[in-house]
Amino acid sequence: MRMFDIIAKKRDGGVLSREELEFAVMGFTNGQIPDYQMSALLMAIYLKGMTEQETAQLTDVMAHSGDMVDLSAISGVKADKHSTGGVGDKTTLVIAPIVAACGVKIAKMSGRGLGHTGGTVDKMEAVPGTETALDRQRFFDQVNRIGISVIGQSGNLAPADKKMYALRDVTATIGCVPLIASSIMSKKLAAGSDCILLDVKTGNGAFMKTLEESIQLAQAMVSIGRHNGRKVAALITDMDTPLGHNIGNSLEVAESVEVLKGRGPADLTEVCYQLAANMLYLAGKGTLEACRKMAEEAVASGAAYEKLKQMFAAQGGDVSVLDDPANFPQAAYSRVVLAKESGYLVRMNTELVGNASVVLGAGRITKEDSIDFAAGIVLHKKTGDRVEAGEPLATLYAENEGRFDGAEEMFRNALTFGPAPQAQPPLVMARVTESGVERF
Ligand code: URA
Repeated sequence: MRMFDIIAKKRDGGVLSREELEFAVMGFTNGQIPDYQMSALLMAIYLKGMTEQETAQLTDVMAHSGDMVDLSAISGVKADKHSTGGVGDKTTLVIAPIVAACGVKIAKMSGRGLGHTGGTVDKMEAVPGTETALDRQRFFDQVNRIGISVIGQSGNLAPADKKMYALRDVTATIGCVPLIASSIMSKKLAAGSDCILLDVKTGNGAFMKTLEESIQLAQAMVSIGRHNGRKVAALITDMDTPLGHNIGNSLEVAESVEVLKGRGPADLTEVCYQLAANMLYLAGKGTLEACRKMAEEAVASGAAYEKLKQMFAAQGGDVSVLDDPANFPQAAYSRVVLAKESGYLVRMNTELVGNASVVLGAGRITKEDSIDFAAGIVLHKKTGDRVEAGEPLATLYAENEGRFDGAEEMFRNALTFGPAPQAQPPLVMARVTESGVERF
């Protein structure tokens, strides 16, 4: 077999066989196939696309390029979730304990922040003492004992994706549904759970900007799951405005606790219930309605909050910050941003709001940057709200006062005011399952 022929076949619109995909992906991962040939193949895929089966096979080959985590040492059904990334997206910290409190095991590997979006592992590390790099045995033992562990990606998970993603990033081949779907799902298949719920964010703060492209991506990922023997469903959720009010690591942990105590912001609470209900449904816990009720009861009874505390305690975290966020290390400085004009907040450029939080220190500008866990933004107004001149729009937090001017300018530039409120999209726009697409 020659890489030249594989590239030519895809260039001419052919369908690659499993053997051809294996030859290309494994050869590239092992260093036998050079970057320039893989780049040509990626561009051919970008231009000619892939069939469902071809995408599923590519994903399976990428997943098998490294460790396939075997969760069979953990009893019961194991469920995972993945968000395509957003601003203020702290849903894992809410949903994972809800689902675990309802008896479904969570053995989850999460990521760190990327660009303007946050990551669960960074948020977890905001709780002082929390370990996110557990060895396999401790990870399995914890899940068997208390039903839940969330850790950072460990081991050699889908190394083909790592190399291919780095190449896509510099060859203008990122924005291609089969390539994005196989990249995300190769890591999820390798992580080993039986059920995978995908939260595909859509809107100006998301990777996918339109509902239609989000649905296409969700369909591709659900189909990969079906071809590879996993139960997969996706919700398409709004990221035209940040989720909840808090952006930044310890601020987001505190807001997650509020939801688990039954007094969180309405938008975040609703999205979390819908995601949790769908995860429980995939895990076979009953009808969607029964699963929603189960999730609500886990919050009302305090069981879900207890589960969150058990998880942090088992991973060495100081749970006193969960009981009282005043125990979190506090930011040295804060600045309140006041409205200069009256009107309705009709649009937030969510990506810019996320970038403002990065400027404050809540995210990384370079890979080596350390995060300031206390930095971030608390929004006092959100899209759709009426604002009077002089009212607080947000409070910014930072360790270094010098960060405020740039962040405030960016934050103000993210806001558009108008004379009348505008209709807002639904929080959950669609649900994609093996049976099809439901739009809300
Ligand atoms: N996230 C991934 O893991 N891969 C992509 O290609 C895009 C987003």
